[in-house]
Amino acid sequence: MPIPYYLAQTYAWAYLRPRAVRLLDREIVVNAILWGNYHRLVQAACTQFRRGEHVLQAASVYGSQPSRLADHLGPTGRLTVLDVSRLQVERLRAKLATRANASVRLADATAPGRESYDGVCCFFLLHEMPDAYKRRTVNALLARLKPGGRAVFVDYAGPRWFHPLRGLMWLVNRWLEPYAASLWRNPISSFADQAGQFDWNERRLFLGLYQVVVARRRGLSG
Ligand SMILES: C[S@@+](CC[C@H](N)C(=O)[O-])C[C@H]1O[C@@H](n2cnc3c(N)ncnc32)[C@H](O)[C@@H]1O
Repeated sequence: MPIPYYLAQTYAWAYLRPRAVRLLDREIVVNAILWGNYHRLVQAACTQFRRGEHVLQAASVYGSQPSRLADHLGPTGRLTVLDVSRLQVERLRAKLATRANASVRLADATAPGRESYDGVCCFFLLHEMPDAYKRRTVNALLARLKPGGRAVFVDYAGPRWFHPLRGLMWLVNRWLEPYAASLWRNPISSFADQAGQFDWNERRLFLGLYQVVVARRRGLSG
């Protein structure tokens, strides 16, 4: 599986080096990176899905998020996680080993396969992608939703002008996260070619620094 260029060039230090992965894949680290909002954001994603549903997650996430989503879906539900990095797939498989309802597959989020899902979860992935990749990912994930199915995108957004962290986050984007600033300007729905086939609901958290966007495919669930 080829590693996308943005991942190799910009994020290898965080996701592709075993020692860094061991260091960063801790609850305390991810919660600090998200300014103490990790649990609230995980909860905001989980509550979009119901027990018994089959949910596709577009990439691995550090900390307890994948386990919490698997637990939320319950024994009759299923969680399928994709990741483009073999290292991440192996690590997440080990983390989810006790969850019989969860599986992890090596795949690119832009080519998630042909199966249809009740839900899709995309947690802090888009801000790490160049816009062309954001578009391909959003389109590929939305295409996998059954009628009535929901995709939840949790990610960075443009903080309010008076947010005390606005300047710092601007600098972080300049130095470390070159593709994140686009989410300050462009709504996630603007990356969807078939946006009209979905009902969109957008919520901002922590004075706008984070967004929770839900796209529900029109039509009745089966
Ligand atoms: C979800 S994102 C960021 C998550 C967040 N920063 C955290 O707490 O882990 C990181 C993951 O996305 C994966 N990834 C990046 N591009 C991908 C793609 N095109 N398809 C699937 N996985 C991808 C990386 O391998 C990495 O495991």
